[in-house]
Amino acid sequence: MAAPKHFLQLHDLSRDELEHVFARTRWIKDQFKRYQPYHPMFDRTLVMIFEKQSTRTRLSFEAGMHQLGGSAIFLSTRDSQLGRGEPVEDAAQVISRMCDLVMIRTFEQDIIDRFARHSRVPVINGLTNEYHPCQILADIYTFIEHRGSIAGRTVAWVGDSNNVCNTWLQAAEVFGFNVHVSTPPGYEIEPERAGLYGDDHYEEFADPMDAVCDADLVTTDVWTSMGFEAENEERRRDFEDWQVDAQMMRLAKPDALFMHCLPAHRGEEVAAEVIDGPQSVVWDEAENRLHTQKALMEYLLLGRVNP
Ligand code: CP
Ligand code: NVA
Repeated sequence: MAAPKHFLQLHDLSRDELEHVFARTRWIKDQFKRYQPYHPMFDRTLVMIFEKQSTRTRLSFEAGMHQLGGSAIFLSTRDSQLGRGEPVEDAAQVISRMCDLVMIRTFEQDIIDRFARHSRVPVINGLTNEYHPCQILADIYTFIEHRGSIAGRTVAWVGDSNNVCNTWLQAAEVFGFNVHVSTPPGYEIEPERAGLYGDDHYEEFADPMDAVCDADLVTTDVWTSMGFEAENEERRRDFEDWQVDAQMMRLAKPDALFMHCLPAHRGEEVAAEVIDGPQSVVWDEAENRLHTQKALMEYLLLGRVNP
């Protein structure tokens, strides 16, 4: 049996493959908007395993699989044997014999890597402590819809060097753009943890005001990610000066976009006037999770489909 193709980190797919997924996203989204049924996944089943909470990821995968003609099953740590210590390798063997595709949201990347090594079917990363590749797939597609190619552009990341930040850094290498990163002292990016091949596509700035200068896109995320709640109070103090506000947005290009993967905390990592303002594309970003993931599932299961 040929090894299945997984999507565990953004750079698991080449630029050419990701561009194919974007081309298919355009077609799938257009069909959806015109109420044209497209059911290539008839009789196929997606299993979704959640060890952390979710609104967008669960909804977009479940609705997406349904719209493609298949079905989706939700499992959580609380109500499966994973929560009672069944080895992830055993769970992978069993689950992947009963379905066609698996999506997992979990803690350490090592957990999903181990699951994938023992899975007979493609595994998709729905967020780990280290990466959130489905999010950046949607974000880059959203950028392209609004502004065209992202190659050669500048993305400013303000805040925590978390899973979403790491994935932007990987995407910069794949698509050939630059990330200007500003994190508080003690929260700097770790290139190895981010899975980077080099340091040609990012630059670090002590002052967030310098990072956003002339950026085409300004983006941020929560100060405290899931799994790090014990650090909440300390992080609130440490990140105080890393809020994306209107003054910061004025330093970016006049047509710069603002993105946030959501959920957001207005008054913490972003000011309400920015996330609810004219440069914000957060709702398009959220919607595009649905369309890009439908194209991703199609690619992983059916290969290069040309209508
Ligand atoms: N952005 C994102 O992944 O949202 P959820 O946590 O709601 O899935
Ligand atoms: N960085 C956030 C993203 C949530 C979608 C977290 O991991 O909690």
